[in-house]
Amino acid sequence: MANQDQLITEDEAELYDRQIRLWGLDAQKRLRVTKMLLVGLGGLGAEVCKNIVLAGIKSITLMDDQIVTEADFFSQFLITREDVGKNRATASVARVQELNPNVIVTSNETSVTDKEEAFFKQFDIVCLTYCKPETIVKVNTFCHENNIQFFGGDIFGFYGYSFSDLNEHNYVEEKPKKNKGSSGEGPSKKQKVDATETVFIKRTMHFTRFKEALEKKWGGIPEKEMKRVPPVFFMLQVLLKFESVMGRRPKPQSAENDRCKILELKKEVLQSLDVKEDYLKDDFASLVAGELSPVCAIVGGILGQEVIKAASQKNPPHNNFFFYDGEQSVGYVDCVKDS
Ligand SMILES: *[C@@H]1O[C@H](CO)[C@@H](O)[C@H](O)[C@H]1NC(C)=O
Repeated sequence: MANQDQLITEDEAELYDRQIRLWGLDAQKRLRVTKMLLVGLGGLGAEVCKNIVLAGIKSITLMDDQIVTEADFFSQFLITREDVGKNRATASVARVQELNPNVIVTSNETSVTDKEEAFFKQFDIVCLTYCKPETIVKVNTFCHENNIQFFGGDIFGFYGYSFSDLNEHNYVEEKPKKNKGSSGEGPSKKQKVDATETVFIKRTMHFTRFKEALEKKWGGIPEKEMKRVPPVFFMLQVLLKFESVMGRRPKPQSAENDRCKILELKKEVLQSLDVKEDYLKDDFASLVAGELSPVCAIVGGILGQEVIKAASQKNPPHNNFFFYDGEQSVGYVDCVKDS
């Protein structure tokens, strides 16, 4: 008898019809056996959650130890005004479940910070949002060692990022088939591309850990190469440092003090990375508090897409950072590896 888990029911085929045509039946089958842990139900977490649940994952565990506050209403669309004071993960469950009754949606109100390695092994994919840098580094290391696909991301006001560590990742890429000209024709004749026929090419990609990417030293890197590195990468480093030192994120209530502290840390961080101070302009420091909902939607859209690519092993993933600069309305994909 066929394994029930492997079969797509008629209902599912109908529900997911459009996306099955987009990414194929095999990809959908892989997605619907994938178990995911999503930490942090802020604005970015809500976007990622919506995208993954609509796509039809097997199960999602929403984890957050924070309480819903007024600030959540700017970007967290899974909760209502009545939820103030409730746990952010648990308050989100009902709306998430409404999006797709086929997905197993649960919440966990405990903190991710003190979880041991064994906890993460029950998941295929772990995605951390709204977490302290130390937590991201620790959980990423567990996941890397256990071949659990890892994603991280956060929003700082106008700016946001996502990070992927898929360790050694195998995937297939679908390409239009190149038809060789029929025999007898000259070798110079161009190959014709037939858009109706495609071939699948197997590929492997290697990823680095978050910690290693952050520790990369930039001294001695040629100017030309340096120009390709988006300044927002160094901005992220400054903001992560702020979180470590202050034990919190920048917030609107202390905007001016935070701005001064951020600029002070900017000097320190750039120096330690061997990056010239003028590489990162100062203006960002007053635009990093809170979570702007359009920024959440863009980064959450990218992150959701990356999770689907990873789970379905279809198409080349972003390796390894995506940055979004909402001030300039520009997104960047960049590979940061300590070589
Ligand atoms: C939350 O996770 C912990 C593991 O650290 C587990 O012991 C607990 O039962 C979980 N709670 C729920 C409600 O699933």
